[in-house]
Amino acid sequence: MPSQHPSIIAIDGPAASGKSTIGLRLANALGYLFFDTGVMYRAVTWLALERGMNVSDEAAVTALAEEAQIDVAPASASDGRTCDVLVNGQDITWQTRSPQVDANVSIVAAFRGVRSALTQQQRRIGQRGRIVMVGRDIGTVVLPEADLKIYLDATAEERARRRYEEMLKHGDKPDYDEILKKVIKRDRIDSTRDVAPLKAAQDAVVVDSDKLTADQVFEQVLALVK
Ligand code: CDP
Repeated sequence: MPSQHPSIIAIDGPAASGKSTIGLRLANALGYLFFDTGVMYRAVTWLALERGMNVSDEAAVTALAEEAQIDVAPASASDGRTCDVLVNGQDITWQTRSPQVDANVSIVAAFRGVRSALTQQQRRIGQRGRIVMVGRDIGTVVLPEADLKIYLDATAEERARRRYEEMLKHGDKPDYDEILKKVIKRDRIDSTRDVAPLKAAQDAVVVDSDKLTADQVFEQVLALVK
């Protein structure tokens, strides 16, 4: 890969905007590591729920985030996962996608101590370069020195529709209105929190994916890299 290609690529954006799909495709195309930072917040949330903790107990959840051994590794199975998520050695990849984790992850992700523990680990990995890192605050807080910052956006309705289709494909019986409500709620918590709120970095390229297919979004993003 010639050196003029950006080495650290940050992709941020709201829930279900397609960051993981696009990020993984981009990383594969460049031969880079793909790192979805949302899985770390999900892993801490899963662990707190698993231990029967009150997820609003900031001190207890923060201690958990500081102690837990969270590992993110390239996908070991082709069952739709973008990576493996291990907590204290246990594969919890699919557990982190449960509705309970979905409903509580934004509460956990708003805690200053949780963010500081996870951000440090993310920075260490990101600074090695040749990486596509996706999340909410990668371009603003985790890796402000990123060579390329993309902010992937879409309306809440479109994002809810995509999640609805995805769940239908998995054989679930989703309720569109319910999904839309949850997407809006998570957006609100993520963008109004005090620490590292969801927002586009000043130097980010905003890609509005509302009327685009996944392939069209990928083409646009690839054009920014080349
Ligand atoms: O896949 P989806 O967009 O639904 O969510 P995710 O990327 O897995 O992130 C789950 C939650 O983790 C988000 O709603 C945020 O509350 C939090 N998060 C964060 O605060 N900062 C990040 N860098 C990544 C995720």
